Amino acid sequence: MFYPEELVEEIRMKNDIVDVISGYVKLQKKGSNHWGCCPFHNEKTPSFSVSQQKQMYHCFGCGVSGNVYTFVMKYENFTFPEAVKALADRAGVQLPEAEESAEMKKKAGKRARLLEVNKEAAKFFYYQLRSPHGETGQQYLKKRQLSDETMHRFGLGYAGKNGALLVEYLRKKGFEDGLIKEAGLANFTERSGFLSQFWNRVMFPIQDINHRVIGFGGRVMGDGEPKYLNSPETPVFDKRRNLYGLNFARTARSGNIILCEGYMDVIALHQAGFTQAVASLGTAFTPEQAKLLHRYTDNVLLAYDSDGAGVKAALRGVGILRDEGLTGKVINMKPYKDPDEFIKNLGCEAFQERINQAENSFFFEIRILEGNYDLNDPEDKTKFHREIAKKLCEFKEDVERENYLQAVADKYHIGFENLRKLVMSYASQTGLVRPVERPRSGVQQKNHPEENAKKSQRLLITWISDNPAIYQKIKDYISAADFTEDLYKKVAGRLFEDLEKGNFNPAGIISMFEDEEEQREAASLFHTNLPELTTVQEREKAFHDILLAVKKNSYEYYTARMGTDVNSTEQVIKGKKALEKLAKTHISLD
Ligand code: UTP
Ligand code: MN
Repeated sequence: MFYPEELVEEIRMKNDIVDVISGYVKLQKKGSNHWGCCPFHNEKTPSFSVSQQKQMYHCFGCGVSGNVYTFVMKYENFTFPEAVKALADRAGVQLPEAEESAEMKKKAGKRARLLEVNKEAAKFFYYQLRSPHGETGQQYLKKRQLSDETMHRFGLGYAGKNGALLVEYLRKKGFEDGLIKEAGLANFTERSGFLSQFWNRVMFPIQDINHRVIGFGGRVMGDGEPKYLNSPETPVFDKRRNLYGLNFARTARSGNIILCEGYMDVIALHQAGFTQAVASLGTAFTPEQAKLLHRYTDNVLLAYDSDGAGVKAALRGVGILRDEGLTGKVINMKPYKDPDEFIKNLGCEAFQERINQAENSFFFEIRILEGNYDLNDPEDKTKFHREIAKKLCEFKEDVERENYLQAVADKYHIGFENLRKLVMSYASQTGLVRPVERPRSGVQQKNHPEENAKKSQRLLITWISDNPAIYQKIKDYISAADFTEDLYKKVAGRLFEDLEKGNFNPAGIISMFEDEEEQREAASLFHTNLPELTTVQEREKAFHDILLAVKKNSYEYYTARMGTDVNSTEQVIKGKKALEKLAKTHISLD
C-alpha cells in the first residue's frame, strides 16, 4: 500500500461514513441505521443501509457493502490512492508529498505533457482555420451553418494539406517526437517520414469535463473515407470514460442530458440552445459513460439517428442506462436523420416539443419489438405477448412491474390478468423475479457442504460484529484458525485481535486488503442476513447452531489434513475438546 496504514486509518476515522454518504445519497435514520436508495443499483424504496457504529454501508437489494473508502471508490470511479486523497482533503489532513512514488510522479508527468502537446496542437489547428490557409475549412463549417461564436466555443480548427506543418510547429514548441507520437498526433512512415495523419480535415478538439483537450476528431470536408478520423486511445484519452460536450453540458442545469451519436449533433444542439447535449467518442456508448452521466443527472434523452443502425444503438443505450439506474427516454427524430438535420429544418421549438414527447424507454423497446411480429397471425401475436412478459420480468420492483403491466396491457389491448399470468409463469420458470428470501436460520440450507461451511463462518462474523460484547463469552471456544477460508481467517484474526484490545473497528479491517475484489468480500462478511428471530431462546439456539457449525467444520477440515500438516493434529485434538464442551454449553445472549 502506498500510504502508511495508520494514516489511512486516521483519514478514515476523520470521515464519518454517514456524513460522507449523506453528501451523495439522501439518508434517513431508522433504528440504529441510516437508510436511503442505493446509488449502485436502480431502486425506488430504500434498501441501502449505513451503520455509524460499524462505519460501513450495505445494500440489501444488490448486496454491495464496504467502508467509506470503497464507497468513494465505487461512486467516483476512484482508485484507492485517489479515494485516500479525496477523503484526506475533505478532512483537512495533509498527505505527505514524499509518499508519491517515483512511478506515480513519472505517470503524472507524462499525462501533463500529453495534455500540453494536445493543447498546443489544438491552438495550431484553431489558428490555421482562422488564417488565409484555412479558407476551405471556414467555407465548409459555414455551409454547415455554424456561427463564428459556435466555432470559437468548441475550439474548432483546421488541418491543412501538409501533415508536416503540425509536426514542425510542435517540435519548435519543444515537444519530442516520442511524445507527439504517443499523443496520437503523428506517425512515422518509411516513405514520408514523421507526419500528422490529420490533414485536409476540419478538427474537433475533444475535451474532458475540465475543458482539457484529450484528443481530436477530424472530419473530411465532403465525401471521403474515413468520414471522421479520431485520435487513438492514449493515457489521457479514454474513449470509454469521456463524452463530447460534457464540459459544457454538466453545468446546463436543464434537468436532463441529451445523448447523441455525433459531434456535429452536439454542436448543432448547443448552438440552438440545448447546451445539455453530449455524444460518445466515435465508439458505442458504454456503462462507464452512463456512470459519468449519473453524476450530473437522472434523466437521459437519447437523440440517436432515426435509421436502422441508430435504432439498434438506441436499444443498446437504453439497456445501459437502465443498468446504471438512469431514466432513459427516446427522442423521435423523424422524418430527419439526426438532431443536426432536424434543427436545421424544423428549428429549436420543434425540437423542444420532441423532447417533451420523448418516449419512455420501455415502450420504445416494446414498439421496436412489435415490428418483428405480424399481429394478425395468432401464433406471432402470442410470441409477441410472451416477449412483453419477458421484458416485464426485468422490473425487480413489484409496484413498478405492476404499473408497467397495466400500461402495456392497455396500450396493446391485452387482457390484464392474462398478461399477468404470463409474467408470473415466465418469472417462476426463469427465476427472474424472486420473492425476497429471508432464511429463518441461515445454517441449514441444502447447499454444498463447502458453501454451508463458508456461510456459517460469515454468519458468525456478522453476528459478532453486530454484538461485539458476545466475543468475551465465546473466545474460549473459537479462534481465527477455525475459519477455514483464507480471507475469512485474516478477517477473523484481525477482528478478534481488536476485540481482545477492546477495539471494535470492522471498517478498518477492510482497508487491510488492497485488492478491490478482496475488499468487497471482506466487507460482505460483516453483512450476512442474520436469521430474524424474536424470542431469546430462538436466538440463542440459532447462535449456538452457527457456532457449532463453524467448530464442526473446522474439526472436519483439520481431521482431513492430519498427517500432512503438523498444526492440524494439534488443532484436531483441541478442536474435539472444544466441540464437545461447546455442544453441552449454554451461551446466553443477554
Ligand atoms: P455520423 O456518420 O452520424 O456523423 O457518425 P455525424 O456526426 O452526423 O457527422 P456529419 O453530420 O455527417 O458531419 C456519428 C459519429 O460517429 C463517429 C463520430 O464520432 C461521429 O460524430 N464516426 C463516424 C467516426 O468516428 N468515424 C467515422 O468514420 C464516422
Ligand atoms: Mn450528421
